[in-house]
Amino acid sequence: MSHPAPPAVQVDGLTVTRGKRTVLHGLTLDIPRGSISGLLGPSGCGKTTLLRSIVGTQIVESGTVTVLGEPAGSAGLRRRVGYVTQAPSIYADISVRENVAYYAALYGRDRDDIESALTAVGLREYADQLGNQLSSGQQTRASLACALVGKPELLVMDEPTVGLDPVLRVELWKQFRDLAAAGTTLLVSSHVMDEADHCDRLLLMREGNLLAQLSPDELRERTDEQNLETAFLTLITMEESA
Ligand SMILES: Nc1ncnc2c1ncn2[C@@H]1O[C@H](COP(=O)(O)OP(=O)(O)OP(=O)(O)O)[C@@H](O)[C@H]1O
Ligand SMILES: [Mg+2]
Repeated sequence: MSHPAPPAVQVDGLTVTRGKRTVLHGLTLDIPRGSISGLLGPSGCGKTTLLRSIVGTQIVESGTVTVLGEPAGSAGLRRRVGYVTQAPSIYADISVRENVAYYAALYGRDRDDIESALTAVGLREYADQLGNQLSSGQQTRASLACALVGKPELLVMDEPTVGLDPVLRVELWKQFRDLAAAGTTLLVSSHVMDEADHCDRLLLMREGNLLAQLSPDELRERTDEQNLETAFLTLITMEESA
């Protein structure tokens, strides 16, 4: 008898307090393997806090977060999970290629992996430039390359396409789709709905609560709205009047 693969991420009753405020209110959700999940919601709703809880860098008040079968933040997950933070994090005083090579070494990847990560983000031409000589969009892309090169099983990305041009965004979403097809689980946050259609599943958040977990088409169906931005707003109104 075959059992369905357990989800890549299982979050159960997650409550997180930051400062004096409870910013996640008992979230329960799961993220299937080999898919793209989009975490969407307005600024300040708790997206980054949830992602930090999943990668294990957030102090959790209560609840459990299980990632690839282990508690979030376990040492064994270090090479299996990649995290692209919201603010680009690359070393300023070494080149782009050296930045990527550093992560390649951590994850046991080779030179070909470095070159394909640089190509994936369109930075091959800039590979010898120092981190602090990049434009902000290039820094974002360099950060992404550092995560891609590790080929982690779970790739968590916090607003990875903010500030990138439409052509590059399309290219990146293609890459994300290829990664998912090859079995990688991707969790991508965004505060703009126009990227939601690239996702298999949406996690819709508002004010530290999860409004819904559903596919873009299910969201359209549930709200009777074709435009996903409008559909999300309609869902909020529906929840409020319920
Ligand atoms: N270091 C911190 N100390 C105290 N409160 C914080 C801290 N970081 C975030 N918060 C609060 O936690 C809540 C959730 O923040 P979070 O960064 O998770 O939101 P977000 O959905 O990622 O927003 P954005 O789209 O702007 O990135 C906000 O109300 C924020 O003010
Ligand atoms: Mg954020």
